[in-house]
Amino acid sequence: MKIVFFSAKPYDRTFFNRQNEQYGFELEYLETHLGPHIVNAVEEGTYAVCVFVNDKLTAEVIGVLAAKGVKVIALRCAGFNNVQLEAAKQHGIRVCRVPAYSPEAVAEHAVAMLLTLNRKTHKAYNRVREQNFALNGLLGFNLHGKTVGAVGTGKIGRAFCNIMQGFGCRVLAFDPYPDASLQAAGVEYLPFEALLAASDIISLHCPLTPENKYLINDHAIRQMKKGVTLINTSRGALLHTHHVIESLKSGHIAYLGIDVYEQEEKLFFKDLSASIIEDDMIQRLTSFPNVLVTGHQAFFTEEALQQIAEITLRNVDGLRKGQEPGGGVLLA
Ligand code: NAI
Repeated sequence: MKIVFFSAKPYDRTFFNRQNEQYGFELEYLETHLGPHIVNAVEEGTYAVCVFVNDKLTAEVIGVLAAKGVKVIALRCAGFNNVQLEAAKQHGIRVCRVPAYSPEAVAEHAVAMLLTLNRKTHKAYNRVREQNFALNGLLGFNLHGKTVGAVGTGKIGRAFCNIMQGFGCRVLAFDPYPDASLQAAGVEYLPFEALLAASDIISLHCPLTPENKYLINDHAIRQMKKGVTLINTSRGALLHTHHVIESLKSGHIAYLGIDVYEQEEKLFFKDLSASIIEDDMIQRLTSFPNVLVTGHQAFFTEEALQQIAEITLRNVDGLRKGQEPGGGVLLA
């Protein structure tokens, strides 16, 4: 039984091949993104396609997959804003995902971005290698005592809140479904705009939905404290990038850390070091001294990759045996 992987990287092969020893699927790895341009490469009779965050599963693509007899779309990630679920339902294609794979990996990366921006360790590293031991320009601030706002307190947001409480921060949260264990631990839930107004640091941990696209736009930014630090490890389109750039220019946002970017599919997961990048917005962002961009690497730990391979193949195996995986795995 064949599974075709899209956007496959060497590390995907390593972890999936190892995990597949107990399942014996035929695995084919394609480096390209899935989209209308390539969907015809899927051979008739392929059981499943395995996709990642920037593969585009439009209604058109899903229609072609269905015509080729594909039964399962297996997302090897948690977010699913890139899949037209209605189209999959109409064609009777099952869609499964990995709802949780080391949420701590993403939460810890958000904290790593925060500490890098704050304590400027990335600058110190380069300076010291050039024998420049001066401290000018490296001034940071304590996290202890600061107010941190988490937008979304699911698995990743909860891990993030726990870490920030360990730093001695006051932790605020906004989520339509508050987490009782966090409340018991002292996390204060506030309406969204109140969280924006009270936080020194804001970190986004909610999924991207049609309702919250550009959640952080100029209106939201105006509610924030001047000098706020903003971290986004969730999905690029939660930020209105142009409005964020304007606020960086005015100094309203003092620090920005992003692991995701609205137009990331043209850039991320590729070595473009010898290319001319036409995306002026990312070029502007990386030119700021107070902006840190990482290329969707928050999930990228040994533990997370192992769990992704384990859960993805278990999901496909369950579906081929007629089982219905629970726990938020099935989307269609
Ligand atoms: P989750 O489903 O466990 O939690 C999401 C939480 O957000 C839920 O509690 C939900 O009620 C809340 N929520 C939904 N809409 C909201 C809104 N408009 N405002 C505030 N809260 C809202 O999801 P999990 O596992 O915590 O992941 C969160 C997001 O992180 C994913 O949707 C994905 O976009 C992103 N992610 C990023 C990764 C990376 O490598 N950068 C890796 C994995 C996930």
